[in-house]
Amino acid sequence: MAATARPVVVKSFVDAGCQTHLIGCTATRAALLIDPKAGKRAVYEKALADYGLRLEVVVDTHTHADHLSDSAAWLARGVRCAMGAATKCERAVERLKAGDTVAVGKLAFRVLAVPGHTPDSIALYGHGLVACGDTLLVGGLARADFRGSDPAQLFESVKRELLTLPDATVVLPGHGYQDLLFTTIGHERAHNPALRHADGRAYAAALGAVEGRGNTPEVDAMLATNLAAAPVLPEGPAAVAACCAMGATSAASAPIREQRNDELAPRRAELVARSQWIDVRDPWELAQDGRIPGVPNYPLSELGFVLDELRAHPPEVISCKSGVRSTTAVKTLRYLGVLRDPISMVGGFGKWKEAGLPVEK
Ligand SMILES: [Fe+2]
Repeated sequence: MAATARPVVVKSFVDAGCQTHLIGCTATRAALLIDPKAGKRAVYEKALADYGLRLEVVVDTHTHADHLSDSAAWLARGVRCAMGAATKCERAVERLKAGDTVAVGKLAFRVLAVPGHTPDSIALYGHGLVACGDTLLVGGLARADFRGSDPAQLFESVKRELLTLPDATVVLPGHGYQDLLFTTIGHERAHNPALRHADGRAYAAALGAVEGRGNTPEVDAMLATNLAAAPVLPEGPAAVAACCAMGATSAASAPIREQRNDELAPRRAELVARSQWIDVRDPWELAQDGRIPGVPNYPLSELGFVLDELRAHPPEVISCKSGVRSTTAVKTLRYLGVLRDPISMVGGFGKWKEAGLPVEK
């Protein structure tokens, strides 16, 4: 099993349930940042440097109610920022209409209008992925009880714009609360309980969401800041005002199998020979810190693009740097039905190296 070069680099960030996605063009190193959070700029800048990417465009998929957007800071640095055409944001953001294209180096993403969570919600589709903001989440849909939300419209947007995409399309949502990083259109079409309703009206009736009930004083303060032309943004950690999911899967709560490096080291050669061990760190980490001999790299954020490979050669062991990302990989791949019950290596490559076990550069 060998990782194949793809035209798109993807790195997803999770912070307090909010997901930001960095998407880069392999050929030109131009990059797009979707839904960046205030207070996390240093994290994104480090990732840009680690991947050798150059940020060209920032897109907010909608006016966020739960966290502060960092678009104003990127605008001030001369980076193009864009939102959906229906936005009331007072910043100098480009307005994207349905059918527009967001070009990033040699990549092109089509703008989909997906109102419902908010009137200005958009998604970006292309190169086997859809970054859909707060619409379709893993095992559920986004909240639809804010002022301006419309649950029936949300359901119909998801059905019309997202469920019509190819099954293998990797869904990069705006939120995740259960350590499940991504999903696919095919999996959600088949398994998402929110999508079993006949239509938007039936979904809205079952949900019973009351418009505006979600607008707590904290949410209204977030919205006001995210609409302002020149907000004061924190440099450090910023608060989150609300969870943005309505209904979600319980698949992630089942215990996972874990083994220590001293248990796995004696089986390394055998597992490597059978292509049954993968390392889900970022590629630059392997280049910088080394790797367990023979264990190929399948970065966590890009696992959605190699599901067929993983199905054909199911890994028995997944490792990362410390054991956190391998846990996310196990949960996500198990949720998707790609792997049954793989082992996450406790302590990851860090503890492996500390224990003096073999490392190759
Ligand atoms: Fe949202």
